Amino acid sequence: MGDAAFEAAFVTAPAPVNPGLGPLYNHTSCVGCHLRDGRGLPLLGQGPTSQALVRVSLPTGTPEVPGGAVAVPGLGTQLQDHAIFGVEPEVRVMLEFVEQEGRYGDGLAYSLRRPRLTLVHARGARAGQPLAAEILTSLRVAPPMVGRGLLEAVPAAALEALEDPHDADGDGLAGRLNTPWDVARHQAAAGRFGHKGNTPGLRQQVAAAYANDMGVSSPMFPDADGRSELDDATVDAVTLYSATLGVPARGPSSPAAERGEALFAQLGCAGCHVPQLQTGEHPVAALAHQEIWPYSDLLLHDLGDELADGRPDFAASGRHWRTAPLWGVGLAQTVTPGAGFLHDGRARTLAEAILWHGGEAERAREAFRLAPRVDREALLAFLGRL
Ligand code: HEC
Ligand code: HEC
Repeated sequence: MGDAAFEAAFVTAPAPVNPGLGPLYNHTSCVGCHLRDGRGLPLLGQGPTSQALVRVSLPTGTPEVPGGAVAVPGLGTQLQDHAIFGVEPEVRVMLEFVEQEGRYGDGLAYSLRRPRLTLVHARGARAGQPLAAEILTSLRVAPPMVGRGLLEAVPAAALEALEDPHDADGDGLAGRLNTPWDVARHQAAAGRFGHKGNTPGLRQQVAAAYANDMGVSSPMFPDADGRSELDDATVDAVTLYSATLGVPARGPSSPAAERGEALFAQLGCAGCHVPQLQTGEHPVAALAHQEIWPYSDLLLHDLGDELADGRPDFAASGRHWRTAPLWGVGLAQTVTPGAGFLHDGRARTLAEAILWHGGEAERAREAFRLAPRVDREALLAFLGRL
């Protein structure tokens, strides 16, 4: 039931044909952004749907929920660039990429592409005008879906044990947990999902996706009049589906990949991309008490100015991102040809993803950039196996 609901596309016709979509939305189905349960492409503004989305907020004011982002009057905290038939979307979004050159230590040239967003009001008195400069924006692509229930099953205490927010051990890493608002429990909780760890659990992530990405209400996020277009049973089924997608087996090893695994630790990658974690209790028995290899501490790290979105999200600053789990990363472009890496999909290859690292990861990035070509290729061979 959850699989079917994940793939079901809502129709864009007005009521009564339309069973709930919109009126504003980004896409018409979950799978439309999480392609084949993988990641989305950095595609938005063109065609009848977008596979990425833009969050917005104001730098000061009263947040929607304690500690959260401050909604922009008339726009909320997420821009919807599509609307059902007969309704104007709230914005027009244009995404371009600007190339910037760099060089490896051995002189080999590379080029990185930086996203550039143009956001224009599409309706109301300000139609045609750009969004006010004070509005903070964050472009995000859909992360892959595999292994998410296992990540949910890691006890918060295990993640807290990995935290070192003031870098007391002096290793240059200052991982911290985000503490987003848990809507069901009415309290802050350990953040695991979203590119800034801005959502505590899968059920809230699913209900919020229905509400924000598709404009479909449910009991957790009802319409203004208190009604819901979806029932709890559907949200529960999609949550179970989202929790139980298995992680692909590793690809075959090679001498280069084995050396790459050692380099992954030597260059400092494993300090954030923690190879192994242990799950605890989980209502789904298959997820409980497992040894898992996500290559993530699920903590926030400052990745520097180049990747910064400048938009705080609960305890995450404008420079913080959740360490992306690397399991399955070697198959990302097999699952979704053309898929990119990092929160906004800007990196076209795994090497580009590493070259964008800065801040706490600058030392590891420089170790990669300055390493001999055979070592760089060995590291990439290791990532390609995951
Ligand atoms: C418009 C594209 C889009 C649609 C539609 C969409 N998602 Fe997502 N999804 C995203 C983006 C972008 C993120 C990252 C959000 C963030 O950083 O806060 C995400 C995050 C997630 C995550 C957390 C993954 C992680 O590791 O952080 C899950 C689970 C998820 N979505 C499930 C769903 C489900 C279920 C649906 C349908 C009800 C859905 N999504 C619909 C774009 C989409
Ligand atoms: C200081 C912590 C830190 C260190 C050290 C670090 N990373 Fe990362 N890494 C991150 C974070 C945080 C992200 C997510 C960034 C984003 O979404 O923009 C990430 C993203 C990635 C991605 C993209 C994954 C995806 O699914 O899009 C790859 C690949 C990666 N890192 C590989 C490496 C390698 C290889 C090294 C060592 C050379 C390394 N990282 C060192 C924190 C770190």
